[in-house]
Amino acid sequence: MEKLKIDFGSGYAHNKDYKSCDITFSPILDFVYDYKKNKILYCKINSVDEFYLRNVVHHLPDIEKTFKCLKKYLKKGGIIKIIDVNKNYFKQNLFLDRLWYRFIIPQNEIWFSEVYRDYKSILKDMNFQVLENYVIAEKEVSVWKKS
Ligand SMILES: C[S@@+](CC[C@H](N)C(=O)[O-])C[C@H]1O[C@@H](n2cnc3c(N)ncnc32)[C@H](O)[C@@H]1O
Repeated sequence: MEKLKIDFGSGYAHNKDYKSCDITFSPILDFVYDYKKNKILYCKINSVDEFYLRNVVHHLPDIEKTFKCLKKYLKKGGIIKIIDVNKNYFKQNLFLDRLWYRFIIPQNEIWFSEVYRDYKSILKDMNFQVLENYVIAEKEVSVWKKS
C-alpha cells in the first residue's frame, strides 16, 4: 500500500514526494490544518506514515499543541522529519523573517518566534524516539519516531 507522507506547512510549492498541507483553506492543498480546532481536515487519525516540516517549527505559536496533533494522525512507528533553523543562525533567520513577512511581502498573519525554542525536548517529553539529529550549515535536521 502507498505510504501517506505529508509536507506539513508546505506552502504552495510542496515537496513533490509528499502531499501538501497548510493552514490556509486553499483548494490546491491536499490537506488543511485547522489550527483553532487542532485538526487536519480530510485526514484520518493513525493514518500518516510521515510528516515533513521544513522551516515550519519556528512559525508554530504553540509547538506542543501542534505536535500533539501530528502524533494523533501518525501511525504507530510513523515519523516526523524536521528541518529548521539551527540555533546558531536563529537571529539571522529572525532578521530575514521580519524583513520578508513584515516589509517585502507583508503577511501579518504569519507568526514567527522571537526566540529559539527547544522543540526537541518537547518531542522527547512526548515519548518520541530520536532516529537522526544533525546540523547542515544553517539548518538542523532531526527525525522522530512515534513509539
Ligand atoms: C517559511 S514557510 C515554509 C514553507 C515550506 N515548508 C518550505 O520549506 O518552503 C512557513 C510555512 O508554515 C506555514 N505555517 C504558518 N503557521 C503555521 C501553523 N500554525 N501551522 C502549520 N503551518 C503554519 C505557513 O503558511 C508557511 O507555508
